[in-house]
Amino acid sequence: MPSFLDIHKTDAADLRAIIDAGRAMKTSRQGRPKGAPDDDQPLAGHMVALIFEKPSTRTRVSFDVGVRQMGGETMVLSGTDMQLGHGETIADTARVLSRYVDLIMIRTFEEQTLLEMAEYASVPVINGLTDRTHPCQIMADIMTYEEHRGPIAGRKVVWSGDGNNVFASFAHAAEQFGFDLTFTGPPPLDPEPDLHAGITIERDPHKAVEGADLVVTDTWVSMHDPQSARERRHNQLRPYQVNAELMSKAKPDALFMHCLPAHRDDEATSEVMDGPHSVIWDEAENRLHAQKAVMRYCLGV
Ligand code: CP
Ligand code: NVA
Repeated sequence: MPSFLDIHKTDAADLRAIIDAGRAMKTSRQGRPKGAPDDDQPLAGHMVALIFEKPSTRTRVSFDVGVRQMGGETMVLSGTDMQLGHGETIADTARVLSRYVDLIMIRTFEEQTLLEMAEYASVPVINGLTDRTHPCQIMADIMTYEEHRGPIAGRKVVWSGDGNNVFASFAHAAEQFGFDLTFTGPPPLDPEPDLHAGITIERDPHKAVEGADLVVTDTWVSMHDPQSARERRHNQLRPYQVNAELMSKAKPDALFMHCLPAHRDDEATSEVMDGPHSVIWDEAENRLHAQKAVMRYCLGV
């Protein structure tokens, strides 16, 4: 059974099928209470472990609700409360959990932790964010774009800000889904060099967003960044704030996205976040639907 570790490690055809399945499942539930069971109950009898070594609101709640809607059971585990946080190896944790649960979702720091979990688990593992990537987020983002504007293939997506983990998954998705991706941000916060091949780098944010179909940003200080870097990062990133003036340079019908949580009036103004281009609440909702499809893909149900 396949894990879902990263967008570039999943077949493009499977990614497409996941997005389409997520949209179909969303449509089929419209108007029903959030706790109402899905008709087909594909996860009946399945137990899912949700491990968090970092804080989370959306990932935690959307996975938990999604499993329950599909008829499965969840247990939410904090890394620090597990023996994992007290010296037990990732490999041994993976072997043990695989005897109790059918699927593991983990949010962690180093990518290596995720990879080791997947290597030693005998059940599928889902990446719920690492310092390097956040693939479930970008599946929801693509679903959201297509729900509003149709196919993302051939569109211009502009990322303004830190070349971080969420950006990295956008870069992986650009290749798999066939959209153009421009990064605009200060050189010290460039994406990892291995991501440069398929993207355009434009230092001037106003030039970068010209003709954009979608403008995206994220926090200036991620959970894995030291707080001591906060002031320096703010100074470096301030010119890349997504505000009404910057959005006015994009296409008139451009969308604005932010994975959340946001620091309002830092990386994006409230005017933009709450304005007509913004689809941030749909984006958050679609974590639920897209991840339900990811879980079905992993479990083959
Ligand atoms: N976007 C996202 O992953 O949010 P959480 O950190 O709240 O899970
Ligand atoms: N880049 C952010 C995303 C949070 C969902 C972080 O890693 O903290």
